[in-house]
Amino acid sequence: MSSLVVPPHNQGPELERRIRELGDWFHNLNLGGIQTAPNHYLGDYPRVKWEKFAHAVPSDLSGKSVLDIGCNAGFYSFEMKRRGADRVVAIDDAENYLAQGQLAAEVLGLKIEFVQLSVYDLAQLREKFDVVLFLGVFYHLRHPLLALDIIHEHVAKDLLIFQSMTRGSRDILSLQSDYDFWESAIFEQPGFPALYFIEKNYAADGTNWWIPNLACAMAMLRSAGFTIIQHPEDEILICGRSECFGYSSALRQSVEES
Ligand SMILES: C[S@@+](CC[C@H](N)C(=O)[O-])C[C@H]1O[C@@H](n2cnc3c(N)ncnc32)[C@H](O)[C@@H]1O
Repeated sequence: MSSLVVPPHNQGPELERRIRELGDWFHNLNLGGIQTAPNHYLGDYPRVKWEKFAHAVPSDLSGKSVLDIGCNAGFYSFEMKRRGADRVVAIDDAENYLAQGQLAAEVLGLKIEFVQLSVYDLAQLREKFDVVLFLGVFYHLRHPLLALDIIHEHVAKDLLIFQSMTRGSRDILSLQSDYDFWESAIFEQPGFPALYFIEKNYAADGTNWWIPNLACAMAMLRSAGFTIIQHPEDEILICGRSECFGYSSALRQSVEES
């Protein structure tokens, strides 16, 4: 049957040439037997990461819409489509990664809507999605809390799947709703939310700006209106969307209203 015949430009040396002319790949995908990033410093990435939290993502996404923010070459978008998602919109601000995603989708025969867009401009989509993926982007942003606020306000309908590199303590300190001005020891506690600012470079990557400790990633998500439902893997937090903001915002709001 003609639909099963792989066209020559999607196999062998011609496909290899098309893959390589799109530059260095961050996602290691298997396209027609060719690995796009066989020497990735994190191994078979992101498959090795996905395998650690795939069980925590709904296995049947039929009838659901998915937004993949910072999709790169589309690994997670493809997995969502394979789980039956009706629509997958994949955004990234980098043209080169979107071109890789488009080639991969073509070779894999999966329909993904790729859009060049920054997380800060998500309002332009004018749509809310059942599942939002925000994986591996947070620490690349100069304004991470703004990004979370935008996601909450404009695109998240139900489930947010979040990943950030984290550094520092993995303790979670139980916090009071307020502290006296003279209380300073609390800031020395390892489980206090902390966001490390990278002024120069980290991991030879000039786009790493803010790296949270685990308590901070959780606190920022809550503060932006997300409820943490599950923590299936070191860096992954699965969240629900809540109308109820973290107590700091609530406190701020009640001060404003009084
Ligand atoms: C470390 S990769 C993560 C890719 C993928 N989400 C994953 O987890 O494997 C970060 C991606 O975020 C994209 N990105 C960085 N800043 C962005 C922004 N402001 N808006 C949209 N995408 C952004 C980069 O182009 C890159 O593709």
